[in-house]
Parts: sequence; C-alpha cells; structure tokens
Amino acid sequence: MTRHFFWNGEPVAFQPGETIAAALLRAGIAGLGRPSDAPSGRVFCGIGACQGCVVAVAGAAPVEACLTPASEGLRLGPLPAIGTDHA
Ligand code: FES
Repeated sequence: MTRHFFWNGEPVAFQPGETIAAALLRAGIAGLGRPSDAPSGRVFCGIGACQGCVVAVAGAAPVEACLTPASEGLRLGPLPAIGTDHA
C-alpha cells in the first residue's frame, strides 16, 4: 500500500521509515520555498545541522524534513506558513 503526505496540497508518496526530505527529493521537489541563494529552503546538510530544510506542518510546530519520518496524511508546506488549502 502506498502511503502519502501532502506538500502544498499535492500528495507525495513515501515508503515506511523514509524521511520527509527523502520523499520530497524522490518526487523531484528540492526547493522547499525559500530563496535559492540561501541555505534555508533546501536539503543542505541532510543531518539536522543547518536548519535549511525546516518545513511548516499544519496544526503543529515546524520540523526538519531531513530528520522527520514521513507519516500518512501529514500536511506540509514552505515556511513561514502553509496555504489555506491545508485547513
Ligand atoms: S538539511 Fe540541514 S537540517 Fe535538514
């Protein structure tokens, strides 16, 4: 069974145990919404050191996408806030 979370309202498939960042990258989503000339908004270090991959989570605090396991139904988007389609 394929599992999904949502990035800007669009479903993104993931495998059990996969991080949010890994699933986004596999789906071809490398820019997380911040300017490309800054370390934020990208999977930069991949080990939780740079904070570049922090994403907004509907109804919860932002998380580091490179460290956070993907889970079914999560609604995610770029900081500083996700859109109203995540209500
Ligand atoms: S990519 Fe550096 S903290 Fe996630």
